[in-house]
Amino acid sequence: MFKTRLLTKNVTHFVKNWPLSKCLSSVSHILGTHKTGDVVTVKGWIKSLRNQKEHIFVDLSDGSTDRKLQICVSKHSGHNLTTGASIIVSGPLSLSPKGQLELSANNIEVCGKCVVTEGYPFAPRKHYTPEYIRQYLHFRPRTNKFSALLRVRNAATLAIYNHFDSEGFVNVHTPILTSNDCEGAGEVFRVLPESANLVKSMMKEGQSEDEVYFNRKAFLTVSGQLHLEAAAHGLSKVYTFGPTFRAENSRSRLHLSEFYMVEAEVAFVDKLEDVTGCVETLIKKVTTEVVNKAGEDVERCQDVKQGCTWVDKKFPVVAYKEAVDILDKNRDKFKEKVHPREGLGKEHELFLVEYCGNVPVFVVEWPKEMKPFYMRESEAGLVSAFDLLGPNVGEIVGGSLRENDYDKLRKKIPEENSHLEWYLELRKFGSVPTGGFGLGFERYLQSLLGIGNIKDAIPFPRWPHNCSL
Ligand code: 4AD
Ligand code: MG
Repeated sequence: MFKTRLLTKNVTHFVKNWPLSKCLSSVSHILGTHKTGDVVTVKGWIKSLRNQKEHIFVDLSDGSTDRKLQICVSKHSGHNLTTGASIIVSGPLSLSPKGQLELSANNIEVCGKCVVTEGYPFAPRKHYTPEYIRQYLHFRPRTNKFSALLRVRNAATLAIYNHFDSEGFVNVHTPILTSNDCEGAGEVFRVLPESANLVKSMMKEGQSEDEVYFNRKAFLTVSGQLHLEAAAHGLSKVYTFGPTFRAENSRSRLHLSEFYMVEAEVAFVDKLEDVTGCVETLIKKVTTEVVNKAGEDVERCQDVKQGCTWVDKKFPVVAYKEAVDILDKNRDKFKEKVHPREGLGKEHELFLVEYCGNVPVFVVEWPKEMKPFYMRESEAGLVSAFDLLGPNVGEIVGGSLRENDYDKLRKKIPEENSHLEWYLELRKFGSVPTGGFGLGFERYLQSLLGIGNIKDAIPFPRWPHNCSL
């Protein structure tokens, strides 16, 4: 017998009074720990339905796992169940003929119906391209593949925090609003108040509108590095993991206007190997943990099957000059010629990765004119810098030793970054050699999972002409 009316009362009661841990009882928990005979309540969305003579079989997902819980509902329940609807179901667990846990619904409540003919863009068991799904960013977390991606992102995020914690790094929240353009590439977004009244009321003589609020121009950060360096000069080993912003007119499969970066800075370091070693350990440990903890999800969201066989291999190190020689010997394979003074094109980066056996490769010792002002000069014309190139993506990480000579650094700070007296002072009072790096989190996921377009590696992508929700 169905007790729908009674359940309605119960639902209200349980929403008000249940402790959070009980409200969050999940499909993952049920499939992982429960057994036949247990009576459970589960909440989720209908992924698909199969109508049989006496029963309807519902595949239910609540996003806690890639797996679905099969629910057996009597045809006499009187509910109009459709794909996409959200439901709350209670009943005992039993084994299906295929030997899987199945819930026989005693009570069922439709929380929110989903009338597909009114414009819901997904039909059950149909394959959609990432481009199609991207048009419905607000529904994307309900799709199998993208919900798997979000769980992998979560597993990788936790693994990153755990790794740095276990290595004795201190997490520092570097600011989003800043007055510097760390990279000096002119890719900052400017920030100013929207309210014309506020601007008018704060305006001082001689100020332009965009200087009113902070008494200088302010931007969204392109990198937390400079602030992280200040923190490293007191805490020795620090990291930050947050959003960064770049105003580039690039709609490539590798660029976002807002992306997440993992940045670390270490004091008392004067060898580039110490920094590249840090990156290699981070990537291998995080990847191993993600594959171990979220293996099913990794499988599900891979566009191209990736072996990740590189986790057991040493990442090769190639000097920039050597890389150019390798590329030059293979010039017939490229659309664009290599111009040694202009850096590497994407096809060149990807070729180097392939050349090194599809293992991420460090390209080190770059011509100084290709890199930002803060990098330490090694020998004539070169800086102690590296890019880590990964399969499918090319550059994933950029890093360097930092210039810690006061006079050299002073000469190198560009005009546009004129508010960096404080940064120079780090080299005047208790200066130490430091080094660090920034890892593009979405590019790392893209490489690990073989995702074609970076917009499919972040929950709500922003790119030129697109900031729709
Ligand atoms: O190489 P970048 O510009 O280095 C820095 O910002 C340094 N200040 C980091 C540091 O040393 N603390 O950026 C670092 C990484 C790149 O290697 C790339 O993976 C990613 O950030 N990245 C982007 N990812 C997505 N969209 C974009 N527009 C990106 N630009 C850089
Ligand atoms: Mg770079």
